[in-house]
Amino acid sequence: MALANVNPAQTGSWAKLQKHFSELQHIAMQELFAVDPARAERFHLQWGDFLLDYSKNRITDTTLQLLLQLADEVKLKEAIQKYFSGDAINVTENRAVLHTALRSSAFEIFVDGKNVIPEIQAVHDRMEVFTNEIISGIRKGYTGKAFTDIVNIGIGGSDLGPDMAVEALQFYKNHLNIHFVSNIDGDHVAEVLKKLNPETTLFIVVSKTFTTQETISNATTIKNWFLQSGKTEDVSKHFVAVSTNLEKVTEFGISLENTFPMWDWVGGRFSLWSAVGLSIALSVGFDHYKQLLEGARNMDDHFQNTAFHKNIPVVLALLSIWYNNFFGSQTEAVIPYSQYLKKLAPYLQQAVMESNGKRVDRDGNPVAYQTGNIIWGEPGSNSQHAFFQLLHQGTKLIPCDFIGFKESLHGNQEHHDKLMANFFAQTEALLLGKDESKAMEESDNNAFLTPFKTFEGNKPTNTLLIQKLTPKALGSLLAMYEHKIFVQGVVWNIFSYDQFGVEYGKQLATTILEEIHSGVTKPHDSSTRFLLQHYLKK
Ligand code: F6P
Repeated sequence: MALANVNPAQTGSWAKLQKHFSELQHIAMQELFAVDPARAERFHLQWGDFLLDYSKNRITDTTLQLLLQLADEVKLKEAIQKYFSGDAINVTENRAVLHTALRSSAFEIFVDGKNVIPEIQAVHDRMEVFTNEIISGIRKGYTGKAFTDIVNIGIGGSDLGPDMAVEALQFYKNHLNIHFVSNIDGDHVAEVLKKLNPETTLFIVVSKTFTTQETISNATTIKNWFLQSGKTEDVSKHFVAVSTNLEKVTEFGISLENTFPMWDWVGGRFSLWSAVGLSIALSVGFDHYKQLLEGARNMDDHFQNTAFHKNIPVVLALLSIWYNNFFGSQTEAVIPYSQYLKKLAPYLQQAVMESNGKRVDRDGNPVAYQTGNIIWGEPGSNSQHAFFQLLHQGTKLIPCDFIGFKESLHGNQEHHDKLMANFFAQTEALLLGKDESKAMEESDNNAFLTPFKTFEGNKPTNTLLIQKLTPKALGSLLAMYEHKIFVQGVVWNIFSYDQFGVEYGKQLATTILEEIHSGVTKPHDSSTRFLLQHYLKK
């Protein structure tokens, strides 16, 4: 059954939130902290190794109550139940949204009357055997040498998730070098190929549809490169595929025994828990990969079974709605204080913006309120020296998620303490700012300099302090954001699991490519025609 269709802006809680906002917008967080010393005690959530302090937000108890009422009014509880039980909530594509099944410990989850758990288990078992054979060197290349390099060829969800997780779990990695080729820009594939020996490289072509132009072009280029040294019969030793489209995989020349299936009920941007994560398992070993799934499963349990006021993804989603829909914030920054998480923001950009970048509601009518946030970010402390000036003293209100770890992986405590001192200092500075009298004092009473050195503060942040960056913690963190996306889609009454906008761009590119090949342009707007003609002249 589809999700309920409730216009959030017509709910009683929305109207109350608007009124509440008009009062609260003039109250600074500094005041809220001054009158309530126990604020952090109340506005935090502890869940296993995760501590979420959300006290540095422009909220009161009333704000939370009203946001939670909104969640009830849009029937979030029922929506969660439908999400996990395989209802076809992706209505526009008539599919279930079941990435959670990929890490579930349930024995039965039905899609169209069929229990999908045995198939998931069978694919994971095959991944385990395959991974062990490659890592141990039992499975060899065409000249009898063990594999040293793995190349994941994919794009979007078939690239960003694995690439981010391989980077994030670098500390746990084995001897295999993992590479990613995604961009249709030939520089990408050319630069990766320069580093490779065809005798010792395994290629994983990852494409849910197996029709994506970038992936098929890159895979073809790579296969041709491989055939300069290997023979056609050697391809089977060096190329494997992950896809739902077995016909196209066979057409490409990869046998079914070298193909790991996936399912249309797994969205591309949520697919790293399927065989799309093969490069992750190869990089860190299957046991670590299983721990990643376990971490996600734990977060799924928390999300499914915890009252909303104690539910991390729900609270984060509602806070984000508070800023997006009432304060008018357009963007949100995600700032992990871990270099290993440097690809988290690009990964979340697809997950969040492809999902919730929608302008019509579930009836197909234009929404009269803002939907998907713009996500961006970079690790601290680097980002402090890049865009933090604007966070502190710019004119925009940008809520930020700060993610840090109590324990480092490298064990150099001195470095870690310095990193974390920066982590805590930034959220404190964003909250407290620096008032005029302090700025005056620091400027030796120079009245001209004072305004430049004054910080308004009152900038909202969530602080997520996690014990350690383990595969399990990473799994929980990613699932946390997946569920935050889901909650926001439910509240905004949109369909979060299609991506027709991206597909339209792909269609136009196909037509234009034909024109480039033929040299004959079709009718276009005058700008595109002018540019194409200029390009064709070269
Ligand atoms: O970017 C659009 C998209 O359809 C994503 O949703 C998907 O992750 C990506 O393209 C790649 O698609 P495929 O795995 O089918 O090659």
